[in-house]
Amino acid sequence: MIRHNIPTAKYKEYTNIDEAINEIDSFGYPVVIKADGLAAGKGVVIPQNREEAISTLKEIMSDKKFGDAGDKIVVEEFLEGIETSILAFVDNDTIVPMVSAKDHKKVYNNEQGPNTGGMGTFSPSEIYNEELSKEVDEILYKTLEGFKKDDLNYKGILFVGFMITKDGAKVLEYNVRFGDPETQSVLFRLETDLHKIMEAIIDNKLKDISINYIDEEAVCVMLTSGGYPDNYEKGKVIKGLENLDKDIVVFHSGTKIVDNSVVTNGGRVIGITAKAKSVEDAAKKVYENIKKINFEGMHFRTDIGMINQ
Ligand code: GLY
Repeated sequence: MIRHNIPTAKYKEYTNIDEAINEIDSFGYPVVIKADGLAAGKGVVIPQNREEAISTLKEIMSDKKFGDAGDKIVVEEFLEGIETSILAFVDNDTIVPMVSAKDHKKVYNNEQGPNTGGMGTFSPSEIYNEELSKEVDEILYKTLEGFKKDDLNYKGILFVGFMITKDGAKVLEYNVRFGDPETQSVLFRLETDLHKIMEAIIDNKLKDISINYIDEEAVCVMLTSGGYPDNYEKGKVIKGLENLDKDIVVFHSGTKIVDNSVVTNGGRVIGITAKAKSVEDAAKKVYENIKKINFEGMHFRTDIGMINQ
């Protein structure tokens, strides 16, 4: 991002804990500390002060809380603003953003508690407007130019996590995949055949097709196992799925079938998804239907898509 002039947070990588501790104050507080390797979406900690930062560095780098993923860490300036996810279709000549989405990563309402792999999403994001879409287009264009300059033959789906700050949109992360649970809300609104888009990407003809979305908005709420993202039990029978309204879609994440019953088999269990004329109406539909579902220890946030609550 720095090489390609893409707006992002000030950061530095560390493999030596003493160096990290010596320099931690220069980022200000709160500060973002990330395990550089894969940590199931949980390897980011946001200490509020020096004391918390040092104990986080020790947990990740000395105690190996995230295993080898913490051999290298990234310390980053904390960006304040509203997070927005943009998924984009990419081929060698063109990058096309999908409709925006807002992800909720914290386990409890009002962004409280530890990070998770995602507790729910809605699409479109509440702050997305024409001005922001121009800024995002420019950043996506620079990203595509970066792929070309670096000779990366990247095609497919690009996930860009943005923080919309008072100084404009800044990139928090790229993922070379769809987002979860953004995809549930975003593809729910896609009208054009996804297969046709993928074929166009393979043939480098993305610029020749038009990609349309239905005139509705969407919400996905994740039901999780009690205790997640820390320890949780598996194998709880999920009841009530047969009673959901016909237009509700259940995306299975952590489930399996045992003796003809659907049981929990992960932290994030199922995503309940609905569309309606507005995010608020879609959220109402989702929450009405969640009342019909039950499994022991079931947890979910009650504020996804409740923008004006
Ligand atoms: N929802 C965040 C991600 O897919 O990375």
